Amino acid sequence: MASIDIPDVRMATEEDARALAALAAELGYPTTDSEMGRRLARIIADRRYAVFVAGDRETVGWIQTCLTESLEGGTFAEILGLVVTQNQRRTGIGARLVSRAEDWARENGCFRVRVRTNVVRAEAPAFYAKLGYKSKKRQEVFEKTLP
Ligand SMILES: CC(C)(COP(=O)(O)OP(=O)(O)OC[C@H]1O[C@@H](n2cnc3c(N)ncnc32)[C@H](O)[C@@H]1OP(=O)(O)O)[C@@H](O)C(=O)NCCC(=O)NCCS
Repeated sequence: MASIDIPDVRMATEEDARALAALAAELGYPTTDSEMGRRLARIIADRRYAVFVAGDRETVGWIQTCLTESLEGGTFAEILGLVVTQNQRRTGIGARLVSRAEDWARENGCFRVRVRTNVVRAEAPAFYAKLGYKSKKRQEVFEKTLP
């Protein structure tokens, strides 16, 4: 990794909505600031979720994680979203965000972390492999919009 200072990582607050929306757009999910603000408020209020942001003066990345409990899989933490702004990649920010999410999982008594990544995310497999994640299975995602 480049030997530059990695920005601090902290828990998101409702004031981060605008920066999170801008980064979500980079991820391919354009979201208005007000919609992001509403989502963020609900997520912050729910202790099963956590959002961390990287950046000192400017927010350059975020990660969302949650605690999941399923009948067949037991308890695990899941990374629901992660993005680092394009011009700051390969400087260690993504690794630091994942490390913070892993710490949060441990703090919550959870010692297994899972992430599902879209096959279009070309850089993600090498990134997660470098951080010690092993590919478990390949899946197809189905969705239905209810009338
Ligand atoms: C995946 C992503 C979060 C990585 O963030 P990052 O800050 O660039 O990652 P880091 O600098 O912490 O990389 C850590 C290590 O992962 C590996 N890695 C990261 N990006 C890589 C790439 N494009 N190709 C190969 N290896 C890569 C490297 O081993 C890297 O260490 P190095 O730079 O010393 O070689 C970032 O590329 C991104 O936002 N991509 C778009 C969204 C996405 O794919 N999100 C994840 C899906 S859930």
